[in-house]
Formats: sequence, C-alpha cells, structure tokens
Amino acid sequence: RAQSECEIEDISVLKLELSALYNDIREALKTWNEEVYELATYHFDGNGKALRPHVVLLLANAINFHLGLSSERQSTVCKAQKQVAMVAEMIHTASLIHDDVVDRSDLRRGKPSAARRWGQKKAVLAGDYILGISSDILAKIGNPHVVIVLSQVLVDLVQGEMMQLGTKEGENDRFAHYLKKTYNKTASLFANSAKAVAILAEASEELQETAYLIGKYLGLSFQVVDDILDFESSTELLGKPAAADLKLGIATAPVLFASEKHPELNEMIVRRFEWPGDVEHAFECVLASDGLEQSRLLAKRFCQEAKKHLAELSTSAYQLALESIMDGAVFRKK
Ligand code: FPP
Ligand code: MG
Ligand code: MG
Repeated sequence: RAQSECEIEDISVLKLELSALYNDIREALKTWNEEVYELATYHFDGNGKALRPHVVLLLANAINFHLGLSSERQSTVCKAQKQVAMVAEMIHTASLIHDDVVDRSDLRRGKPSAARRWGQKKAVLAGDYILGISSDILAKIGNPHVVIVLSQVLVDLVQGEMMQLGTKEGENDRFAHYLKKTYNKTASLFANSAKAVAILAEASEELQETAYLIGKYLGLSFQVVDDILDFESSTELLGKPAAADLKLGIATAPVLFASEKHPELNEMIVRRFEWPGDVEHAFECVLASDGLEQSRLLAKRFCQEAKKHLAELSTSAYQLALESIMDGAVFRKK
C-alpha cells in the first residue's frame, strides 16, 4: 500500500480522535457539583469549529512524522500531545466564556452565552473552573517546559484583552498596537500549543521555533479574518453578534486601513466610536474604502508566512491537511 494512502487513513483516524477529545474534556470536567459540570461543559457540545485541537493534532503528527519517531515512542508522545490539544481547547473556551462577560455578549456559537444563561458571576466561575481542570491536565503531562510555554498563553490572553480595552496610541503606533494585541489575544495560543507538541516530540530548538512560527502566523491570519467577518458576515452565520467591534469601541484592521483615506475616522477611533452616529459613520467609511480588501491581503500574507514555515517539515498527509486548513481559514465565511 502506498505511503500516502496509509497516511490519509491516519487522518480519518484523527477525526475520530477529535470527537474523543471532546469526550475526554467532558470527562475531565466531571465533579460532584452538577451545576458546575453543566456550566463548564455547556460549550463543549461539538458546535465549535475545534480549530485549535485540529491544528495541534495535525501539527503534532506532522512533526512526529518529520522526526521519524518509532511507533513505540510515537504512541507515548501522541498521548501527551493529545493532552496539549485538550488544554488548548479548554483555555480557548474558558477565554470565550470570560470574553462574553467582558463584551456583554448574549450569543456564542449559535446559542445564549453562558453569561446570558447563568449570569456574569457564574460564567466567570465556570471559566475559572475550566482553567483549573486544564492546569491539572497540563501538570500531569509532567513536562515543566510545556507548562511554562502554555502558562505564557494565559498571561498573553489577559494582556491582549487589556490592550483592547484602551487605545491611547498616536496614529503611527496604532497598527503596531493592533498587531501586538492580535498576537496576544489569538496567535499566542496557536503558537505556544504548536511549540508544546514539538517539545513533547523532543524536537530541536530550531524545529520548536518552526512550530511556534507556524502557529503564530496561522493565528494572526485567523484573527485578521475574524475582524473582517465582523464587517462582512452576519450574526446568523457567525453564531455570535456581527458588527460588534465598533460598538465595543474597538478599531481593528479594516478601520485602521480605512483611516488612511478617511482621516475623520481618527477622532472616532480616539473616542472609541462613542458619539451618536459614530458606529454607523465608521462602518460606512470602511465599506467605502479598501479597508476590507487590504485586511484580506494582510491575512493572506500571514497565511503565506505560516505555509512557508510549514514547508520546512517533510511532506506528509498531515502537512497537506494543515495547508488546506490554513487556506480555508482565509476564505471562510464564518
Ligand atoms: C475573543 O475575542 C476573545 C479572546 C480571543 C480572548 C479573551 C480573553 C480574556 C477575556 C482574558 C481572560 C483569559 C483567560 C485565560 C480566561 P473577540 O471578543 O474579539 O471575539 P468574539 O467575536 O468571538 O467575541
Ligand atoms: Mg467578544
Ligand atoms: Mg472580546
């Protein structure tokens, strides 16, 4: 049987692993307290894109293949790498539950947000509980370097969210601020989980860095598209409120690009679109400019960069599947 055929079969096995991963997460969240369990598992219902665990598992397999791990070694390493995929999805979901408190958002993945259903206090606690259990899983992997790398993600998430709450930079620093925030709030999780699975495969520092960069640029590309979809897509398609960023006072790539040709946006950015009519006016400026087109180009550039680093690994079905996920992330509609 041809090698590629064998690998493609491995990828459908990966799909099964992904649904097993959700079961494992629900299992790990079990507790005597039924209310805590209900809240904590609310968003692990298979409605999400599961992009992070997908990417982490594919990349882990691509790296193991690149390193030519023996099948015995591979089964030990894979087990720990799956736990990293679980932790990544748990950190992500906990941060979304908290995010819906910060953003006062009622809708997540097509259903009422946890904050909407149970109130802000319980939603915060549910996120904390998920983080607590994920810390336990992380510690039990038993590799301090992996703990350090994934702890950094939590620090970055908080910093990213803080950066988003206040924009005091001058016009020239705004884009750098946006990119740094985007790294912190989205790309760090992709980058550091990618690095963690490379560490577990005992990859060289150079290969760990390659994994990190693949995750980083995929994450940046993904978030820029998210910011585009906030303007282009609908609440129905997204399963979360569309046109939300301006209302929250947040200026993302499309607005920042648009401000080059519509300088009146600058004052609105500084006052966080607070005056009556600002949100509508800014929305029109973005649509009348090439802000969305330029943002799409930026997302494509990040995607190219991710693919460039991915090409440093030996060709495998995993690597090809990752490449198509990267392309898909740029052209997605939700
Ligand atoms: C979604 O962004 C939010 C994030 C990617 C991160 C949120 C992080 C925190 C609230 C800090 C707390 C962190 C931890 C570890 C619990 P968005 O609001 O732009 O996207 P949305 O449209 O999906 O709401
Ligand atoms: Mg939000
Ligand atoms: Mg937010």
